[in-house]
Amino acid sequence: MPILSILQYPDSRLRLKASPVEKFDENIQNLITDMLETMWDANGIGLAATQVDVQQRVIVMDLNGDRSNPRVFINAEITILDETPRSFDEGCLSIPEVVETVDRPSKVIIRALNGKGESFEEVAEGLLAVCIQHEIDHLDGKLFVDYLSSVKRQRIRKKLKKNRA
Ligand code: NI
Repeated sequence: MPILSILQYPDSRLRLKASPVEKFDENIQNLITDMLETMWDANGIGLAATQVDVQQRVIVMDLNGDRSNPRVFINAEITILDETPRSFDEGCLSIPEVVETVDRPSKVIIRALNGKGESFEEVAEGLLAVCIQHEIDHLDGKLFVDYLSSVKRQRIRKKLKKNRA
C-alpha cells in the first residue's frame, strides 16, 4: 500500500477545487485505501484528497486515530443545523506543528456516499462536525489558517519555513 505524499502549505495546489466523484471504480477504491494508510502513517484523524494532489471529492477520517473507525465521505455536503460557533483547536497534516483556535458552526447534517458508494445522512456535533467542515474546506481549496488574521498567517509561514530549513 503506497503512502502518498501530503502537500505542505503554502503549496498552491492546496488551493485547487475538487470535482465530485462520478464513478465508483477501482481507482477510487485504491485512492481511499491509500488515503487511509497515508493518514494513519502521519498520525492524522482526517485527510482530504486535495492534500494528496487528487482533485476529487474524497475525505477519509478516523477520529480515534487508532485504525478502529475508518470513515469515508464521498461528495460530502453539509447543512448547518446550529450556527452557534464552537471554538476548537485545529491542526492540519498540510500545516504541521501549527494548532490554532477556529470557530465553526457547532452542528451540521452531513449528506455523503460511504466507501461502498451508498448514500447516507448523519447529524454531526463535536469533533466530527469540526472535522467534516475542515475537510470539505480542503476540497474547496480552503485552509483553516484562512480563518486567522493575516498577521498570524504570516507568522505561521515564517515558522514553517524555519522548520523546513
Ligand atoms: Ni487539514
